[in-house]
Amino acid sequence: MNDSSPTTTTTRIAVIGTGYVGLTTGVCLAHLGHEVVCCDLDERKVEQLRAGVVPIVEAGLPELMAEVVEAGRLSFSLGSDPAVRTADIVFLCVQTPQDEDGSADLSYVKAAANEIGPMLEPGAIVVNKSTVPVGSAQVVAHALGRDDVHVASNPEFLREGTAVHDFLHPDRVVIGAETADVAARIAALYDGIDTKIVSTDTASAEVIKYAANGFLAMKLSFINSVAAICEQVGADVLAVADGVGSDERIGSKFLRPGPGWGGSCFPKDSRAVIQIANEYGYDFSLMRYVIQTNEEQFERMVHKVIRGARRSPEQSLDGVVVAALGLTFKAGTDDLRDSPSLRIANELARRGARVKAYDPTATGELSAVQSERLAAFDLCSSPIKAIEGADVAVVLTEWPEFAALDLEEIRTALRGNAVVDCRNLFDPEKVRAAGLNYQGVGRS
Ligand code: UGA
Repeated sequence: MNDSSPTTTTTRIAVIGTGYVGLTTGVCLAHLGHEVVCCDLDERKVEQLRAGVVPIVEAGLPELMAEVVEAGRLSFSLGSDPAVRTADIVFLCVQTPQDEDGSADLSYVKAAANEIGPMLEPGAIVVNKSTVPVGSAQVVAHALGRDDVHVASNPEFLREGTAVHDFLHPDRVVIGAETADVAARIAALYDGIDTKIVSTDTASAEVIKYAANGFLAMKLSFINSVAAICEQVGADVLAVADGVGSDERIGSKFLRPGPGWGGSCFPKDSRAVIQIANEYGYDFSLMRYVIQTNEEQFERMVHKVIRGARRSPEQSLDGVVVAALGLTFKAGTDDLRDSPSLRIANELARRGARVKAYDPTATGELSAVQSERLAAFDLCSSPIKAIEGADVAVVLTEWPEFAALDLEEIRTALRGNAVVDCRNLFDPEKVRAAGLNYQGVGRS
């Protein structure tokens, strides 16, 4: 999968923050031939990384990390000193959580910039990779307190679960810089990758990041609405998505209907873009409807389960047992942040159902975060154990192992006979042929 070739010019790089963006960026830049130090303030995490343990589920990352550490091009540091003192380029990859009003909280970005300011070599470049509001390059420049260094923007478009692949095979690399020389120095980091470089000013680069996530969220809300129509008119949304997506102007990607979109990025960024627009006096009403449509999608999924349990939305789900298959916001990650699957399962529990849940990333010993977020469920060690004695089995996350489940076994294990497939993993005909009552998304 990592067939991009290492570069010839080596740059010394410090990466601040080892979340999935920072760690993937550091590992992949080291893979491209650069000398990288990944810095974090979390002592436990740095120790783990030094021991070769990748603390997140991310395909290909542990292998590539081991390779570049072994080659001597990647190391880990507690804090940014001394890595930043010798770095040609510093990437800021710290978190930008959401403030109460929906705007991005820049306190981590500012704190990191404050800290590294005095350490930077003259001429060094500080690159914002965190998702930051328009104008953040100036905020960082101010926090650095230096006029002999540069600030640029190089937004990331990595999807969790396929971040390594996305880094090494991007559709484009966006670089926002105020001079051609700075842009060229950043572009040179990606020399080993065959892709289009979109070179622009910092504000445009910052807008590109929000516009890309906003557009993708809009596409998903759109197809989920089309799915709702399909259910009413007796059409199949998968055929519709294929027919619509075959038009190259529209494109077939991101047209998979589901339980609603979530994760650590779309919900936060779609609210932030509305907030940014508000600040500049523009009401981004389209984005408000995109979010509202997504809220309605969660509710529609909950109603499908209620129907499967032969109750009405006004009734409590007391006495109903639901098997929740999948809890992470999508397959291929252990991330529970803003997970539609978790939200739907929690809503069913709140309405009185006993929720027996299974997720491949939540078996065995749980992390503190998992224990807290999954407290409302009876966690099971296999999908079939979750289904045993349930009235409704609901597929919430598209883990491939669910598609491989034996339908006869599901029917025997269930107490009721309803399957709600929020990810359209199953073939409806086959499920019905097994004597089960099937509801998918957009498949009448
Ligand atoms: C998203 C973007 O895809 C990345 O380009 C971006 O870099 C990242 O946010 C970010 O800003 O950091 P990610 O949050 O990892 O990446 O997840 P996606 O794969 O985009 O999925 C987001 C949500 O949409 C999930 O809930 C997923 O289940 C849902 N989805 C996605 C669908 O329901 N249908 C689809 O066809 C695709």
